[in-house]
Amino acid sequence: MKVLGGSASVPLARALAKELGADLIDVAFERHPGGFPDGERYVCIKGTVAREHVVIVQTTWPDPKIVELLLLADAIRDAGARRLTAVIPYYGYGRQDKRFLEGEAVSARTMAKHLALDADELLTVTFHNPDLLPTFPLPAKEVSGIPALARHLKGIGADMLLAPDGNAMRFVKEASKLTGLPFDSLSKERIDSYTVRIEPKALAVNGKSVAIVDDVISTGGTIATAATELRSQGARRVIAACVHGLFVGKAEANLKACDEVIATDTVVSRYTKVTVAPEFAAAIRALG
Ligand code: R5P
Repeated sequence: MKVLGGSASVPLARALAKELGADLIDVAFERHPGGFPDGERYVCIKGTVAREHVVIVQTTWPDPKIVELLLLADAIRDAGARRLTAVIPYYGYGRQDKRFLEGEAVSARTMAKHLALDADELLTVTFHNPDLLPTFPLPAKEVSGIPALARHLKGIGADMLLAPDGNAMRFVKEASKLTGLPFDSLSKERIDSYTVRIEPKALAVNGKSVAIVDDVISTGGTIATAATELRSQGARRVIAACVHGLFVGKAEANLKACDEVIATDTVVSRYTKVTVAPEFAAAIRALG
């Protein structure tokens, strides 16, 4: 087996190759220093993959990383790989999981259709809507990013876990099982047309160290609202833990409401503190 990483996911590709005891193949991403002046992407595989089972690791965000992935998949096939597994740590466009308006693309499926031209199967972490995966034109499996967060949360003295909204309940429940910490979710109650009360449903947070757990932090707006409410209820410490940390727009300012921010290596940022490599390695071994 050979592993190679697109430019969005080189550290994770390296960690995965180590976990699997497989060779990591280098890729060049520039033909000339500085790349093409028009911004087009370039890839060149620096190793042999003929007759091999090849695992490509590439997060498909932002958009140029999608082009790189398609180029890599095509180049690997042309070079004679026997089997190609696409590991997409963060699956960009996953949130457009249906046609909200007539005329739209179901973008999550569009990505899979193009990948299926070269890849035999797809693995991705904590996908927005796992029910969509069986509709993809290639076998696709979700790997959970929550165990990686749980490994970190166990060691930092959190007293409880909190889902910032109903959608995050599945992540918090899983983290609670793995850490043994109690969990709660925020409930929103409309008091009048101008006032919304947001509070933990059951557990008191006064004096507690609370870890908010979510799949994605994008602008940090959801986390900031939750953290501000927890502080007003007397929480001693607020930790934000997410699988995919995009940190766009006003995220840096919004995250000032938290004492600590934790993200996995599905998207590399200054908040990346844990790796999902062990979970991907286990999923790849289970492919058979
Ligand atoms: C929503 O479904 C997701 O679980 C996140 O809560 C959301 O994407 C976070 O976005 P933001 O950081 O912009 O509030």
